[in-house]
Amino acid sequence: MKIGFFDSGLGGLTILTAVRKILPHYDYIYFGDTKNLPYGDKSEEEIHDLTYKGIKKLFDSGALLVIVACNTASAESVRKHQDEMLKKEYPDRKLLGVIIPTVEALIASRSTSAILIGTERTVNSEKYEIEIKKGDTELVLFTRATPTLVPLIEAGEIHGAYKVVQSVIDSITDYVDTIVLGCTHYTVLKELIRKHNDDLYVLSQDEIIPHKLKDYLYRHPEIDDRLTRGGNISIELSSKTDAYIDIQKSILSHLV
Ligand code: DGL
Repeated sequence: MKIGFFDSGLGGLTILTAVRKILPHYDYIYFGDTKNLPYGDKSEEEIHDLTYKGIKKLFDSGALLVIVACNTASAESVRKHQDEMLKKEYPDRKLLGVIIPTVEALIASRSTSAILIGTERTVNSEKYEIEIKKGDTELVLFTRATPTLVPLIEAGEIHGAYKVVQSVIDSITDYVDTIVLGCTHYTVLKELIRKHNDDLYVLSQDEIIPHKLKDYLYRHPEIDDRLTRGGNISIELSSKTDAYIDIQKSILSHLV
């Protein structure tokens, strides 16, 4: 059986690519719901419904474990689908989101004051704050919704997107030592942000999730044993236009 990745679009490919670098032997399947992108400004019900369909598609295509790479879907829907869908329909499968591992990495970094950027939905869900409160930390989190970033990144306008992030960083007058890129799409901006902000620690999910997944599989041999090792990858998009194929290449080419 395979490891599945779900995202609202192409951003999750940055996570999958990083995972494959350290775990190349497994079989992977990716589904990007490009037809319904963006999720970031949709209602909670719409996100539940679309995420349900995407996860179901991956399970029905042989995924044993699905990682919801999309922060927006992780914030709104992972817990609900773990409690309902998994229990009722797929009791032998696993579903993981990206927010809890990111918060674990943030707390482990010993940051005292961080800024999170994400979609409207991710920021408004306050899921990051909720998970931080469960940890043993005094960390202060500032959050900013950056809704223009996903369209810019999906259009391949990486520099324009970076400028938006820089203006957000510059607008924070309080001390912050870390920026959390709370959207899969933003991983393509990490090097530009690092280059221009020496004193800011940049937490990027493509550098967090691979190690967390490796650790998870190590701690769960009963899952690991059921995963096939063919080194195959299949990528499916709900809308696959020529433009998307170009953007897919563009996103992958920005990976370090
Ligand atoms: N990739 C999604 C995330 O991580 C955002 C894109 C969207 O708005 O659908 O939140």
